[in-house]
Amino acid sequence: MKKYAVIGSPISHSRSPSIHSIFGKTVGLEIQYDAIEVVQENFEAAVKNLFYNQGYEGLNVTLPLKELAYHFALKRSDICSLTKAANTLWLDNEEFIADTTDGKGLVADIESKGIDLKGSSLLILGAGGSAKSVLPSLLEQRPDSIKIINRTFEKAGNLATLHKDHECSVTAGNLREELDKNFDGVINTTSAGVLNEEIIYPKNLFATSSWFYDLNYSDADTPFNHEAKLNGCVEVFDGLGMLFRQAAFSFEIWTGLAPNVEEAMDILSKK
Ligand code: ATR
Repeated sequence: MKKYAVIGSPISHSRSPSIHSIFGKTVGLEIQYDAIEVVQENFEAAVKNLFYNQGYEGLNVTLPLKELAYHFALKRSDICSLTKAANTLWLDNEEFIADTTDGKGLVADIESKGIDLKGSSLLILGAGGSAKSVLPSLLEQRPDSIKIINRTFEKAGNLATLHKDHECSVTAGNLREELDKNFDGVINTTSAGVLNEEIIYPKNLFATSSWFYDLNYSDADTPFNHEAKLNGCVEVFDGLGMLFRQAAFSFEIWTGLAPNVEEAMDILSKK
């Protein structure tokens, strides 16, 4: 039986074990997938132990270990070199390889809603780790423009500067300022909803012509999506689909098999 795991801290809440178990069942592969608590100080020893002594063949890496995983690997995918954070590790010819599937998962999920990112104008709320990890994949879809707005303006400015050489215009702004136009799509990457804090956002954010995607997810509407719907917005999505799709890309890297994400989501929603 093939063994995989997600490592991070805290990890007990992770949905990855149930998602990957369903993937295994739907592609007919017997797998074991565990959630293992690993703290930063123990990262390297734990990873080596899991691969070399415990027989694990692939790891997902979550907070707060994603940057460590990027630096630890000897080889990285192109997109991982841009995000400087990894969520997928595996061994190839005794060398650790790192990739990040978060951005690909987000793009695939947005596309699954029938939305074409090419030529679109996008607004990103937040400039932390999540924004950094999805930005290169969004840019790959060749949107017309991306504006990043953040509570701490400096971080939005730094992230925009990092991607300034792209043919898509990438600009920065402050989360408190009113917007000067409506955007085709708005992506919330802030952790405010998760932290149960009040989200700061521009007064005129919720245009009914825009689609809204919250990277967060919860059983009920996330606070951000709740606000969007209260303002009459209709195309409002949460990050559950992204969670499944980034997992599916990791699963495919390790096994060479692409699980049917819709089928897996359907099975888990009925449990
Ligand atoms: P993550 O890895 O989830 O992105 P992070 O790197 O800590 O976590 O980034 C959190 C993001 O949410 C940041 O953009 C943060 O804004 P600051 O850079 O100003 O800290 C944003 N954020 C957190 N709480 C917020 C709130 N209440 N309102 C608006 N933005 C918030």
